[in-house]
Amino acid sequence: MPDALPPRAALAARYPAQDTPPAAFADNPIVAHLLNHRSVRAFTDKPLPEGLIETLVAAAQSAPTSSNLQTWSLVTVQDRERLSRLAAASNRQGFLNTAPLFLVWVADLSRNQRLGEAAGQTLEGIDYLESYMVAMIDAALAAQNLVVAAEALGLGTCYIGALRSKPEVISEELNLPPNAMGLFGMCIGYPDMERLSDIKPRLPQSAVVHRETYKVTPEEAAAVARYDDAMLDFSTRVGQGEVRWLPRMFQRLAGAGSLSGRHRMTEALKNLGFGLK
Ligand SMILES: Cc1cc2nc3c(=O)[nH]c(=O)nc-3n(C[C@H](O)[C@H](O)[C@H](O)COP(=O)(O)O)c2cc1C
Repeated sequence: MPDALPPRAALAARYPAQDTPPAAFADNPIVAHLLNHRSVRAFTDKPLPEGLIETLVAAAQSAPTSSNLQTWSLVTVQDRERLSRLAAASNRQGFLNTAPLFLVWVADLSRNQRLGEAAGQTLEGIDYLESYMVAMIDAALAAQNLVVAAEALGLGTCYIGALRSKPEVISEELNLPPNAMGLFGMCIGYPDMERLSDIKPRLPQSAVVHRETYKVTPEEAAAVARYDDAMLDFSTRVGQGEVRWLPRMFQRLAGAGSLSGRHRMTEALKNLGFGLK
C-alpha cells in the first residue's frame, strides 16, 4: 500500500480504542503490510501493466480451498459500458466505473456440475446449502489473497458487496450459468493519492476475541463505546462528517428495507439454480 505507516503507527491507527497491542511481531513485512490495509475508492487512469492480472490470479488461486474443490470463478471486466451497467445494478456505486479493472467473484458450482454431467456422475451434494457455503468461503479467501497481492504491488482495491443487490441482473450481464452467482465485485487500480483514505479503526480485540469459550462481559459494551468514539474521531478527521459506528451499524441491520435489495437472497439464489437444501 502506498503511503504505508511504520508497523507500530499502523497498529496504533487500527486500535485507537484500546492500548496499542504488543508490536513485537509487527515488523514482519507481511504483517506490517496487512496492518496498512485500507479500501481505495478513487483511482488514477494509469493503465495496469501486462501480466498483472495473471499474477494476481495466481496469488488468489494459492489460497486454501475446501477439499481442493476450487469452487469459484472470476470474471474480469474492463469494458466501460459493461462497467456502467454493473455500477447501475450495484446501487449506482459511481466510483466502480472509474477503476481500470473490475473483478466479479463468482461462487461457482456450475463447473463441478458440468464435469459431473460429462462423466455421467450424479452430484446431488451440489444441491445443499453446505456446498454453496463452501463456494462462498473459497471465493472470499481467494479474493482476499488477491487484495493482499494487489496492495503489495502498489494497487488499491475495494470490495463491492452492492453487486448482490440484483443477482439475476448481474448473472444475465455476465452470462453466468446456473449454479453460479456473483458474490461481490472488486475495483482495482492505482490509488489517487490525493484521495487516499486513512487506516480505519477496528473494534478493540477484547470485543472480538474470546479465550477458550465465548463470554459476554460488561467489557464488551465499554469497548464498543470507546470504539464508537474512535469512529466519530476518524470520520470527522477524514471528512466523512460526524458519523458514529453504532448508529450506522443499527441502520445497516435495521430490517429488510436496509439490506439494499439483498433481503431476497434466498429467492435470488434459487432463481440462479442453487438448491440450498
Ligand atoms: C464483502 C465486502 C463487501 C463490501 N462492499 C462494499 C461496497 O459495496 N461499497 C463500498 O464502498 N465498500 C464496500 N466494502 C468495503 C468496506 O466498506 C470496508 O472494507 C470497511 O469499511 C473497512 O474499511 P477498510 O477496508 O478501509 O479498512 C466491502 C467490504 C467487504 C469485505
